[in-house]
Amino acid sequence: MKKYEKIRNIMDRGCKILGSDYAILGGAMTWISESNLVSAMSNAGMFGVLASGAMDGDLLKNEITLTQSKTDRNFGVNLILMNPKLHDLIDVCGEKKVSHVILAGGIPDRDLMEKIHSYCIQVFSFAPSLSVAKRLFKHGLDSLIIEGSEAGGHVGPTSTMVLLQEIMLNMTEYPIFVAGGILRGEVFACMLQLGAVGCQLGTVFACAQESLAHENFKKALFRANAKDAITPVQLDKKFPVSPVRAIENIGTNEFIARQKEVLQKFEDGEVSVEEGRLSLEHFWAGALRRAVQNGDTERGSLMSGQIVGIVKEEKSIQDIIDTILTEAENFLKVIAARALFE
Ligand SMILES: Cc1cc2nc3c(=O)[nH]c(=O)nc-3n(C[C@H](O)[C@H](O)[C@H](O)COP(=O)(O)O)c2cc1C
Repeated sequence: MKKYEKIRNIMDRGCKILGSDYAILGGAMTWISESNLVSAMSNAGMFGVLASGAMDGDLLKNEITLTQSKTDRNFGVNLILMNPKLHDLIDVCGEKKVSHVILAGGIPDRDLMEKIHSYCIQVFSFAPSLSVAKRLFKHGLDSLIIEGSEAGGHVGPTSTMVLLQEIMLNMTEYPIFVAGGILRGEVFACMLQLGAVGCQLGTVFACAQESLAHENFKKALFRANAKDAITPVQLDKKFPVSPVRAIENIGTNEFIARQKEVLQKFEDGEVSVEEGRLSLEHFWAGALRRAVQNGDTERGSLMSGQIVGIVKEEKSIQDIIDTILTEAENFLKVIAARALFE
């Protein structure tokens, strides 16, 4: 019997879409998902995704080239829709023959997806509701990722459990990956049995041996419990800010103060909603960099999902994947054995 045979059978569709051995995406993480981590993920059989959150075209081109020099396997590039250089970044992905683009931070329109398709690149994106998910597929989306509010980083308001029922179970003919709060192989297997084509994980890989995140950042995550990974409040409905899940620290309070400042400027007509939101995005990117690169765990942003409560040690990517697949395989064997006795 082939290793992981049962789980391989139900991951097959996702593996074909990704061109990987396992239908596990390593979700893009700004400042963390760089060439070393992403190539290590793809070389280990999963699907790495480069984060471009803090990049211009030249930086992205360099990072893609570096990644391609370290792996000949597929990997994706995460593009943030509100990035003013978005079109340049798409051109770079086309020029560098990237296979998949994962759009985040908004809802892409048909024209944008057509532009990406013109480079023969597959387009993935996120959706917060069933109607948006349907519209995205109608406009040409290749695969959807539903990401619940348990996840680390920028999140929507709805949990993975609810998105599964609202979106995925109503669209089982479409390719959907699930993200947010997934780590154990048993849960990974359940997602696939419910109809997902694969899962995307982030927090656990930020803490992997191959992640260049500062050791202070990793240690802070290992110490944290699920309840420590919070989303600071939005101060005013008139000025919507996307919630960001991170471990509570002084930086979380500084975000509230910054939000107050931006809100005031917005009310005084000094900035538009878009400008204000962009400045808050810069705040998060700067704070995340301080934590990830400088190890500032007090004022830096310790972005992580609620799953952080069960991420307790630094493991290699291979070890993380093998554990997930072994747990998934054993779980499926138990289910199959039970069925024999029924
Ligand atoms: C530190 C950190 C940074 C992240 N940055 C991004 C990002 O730049 N773009 C993005 O689409 N998602 C980002 N995410 C979300 C991840 O790609 C992934 O979807 C999420 O972590 C999955 O949920 P989990 O944390 O429960 O595993 C980030 C997550 C973390 C923990």
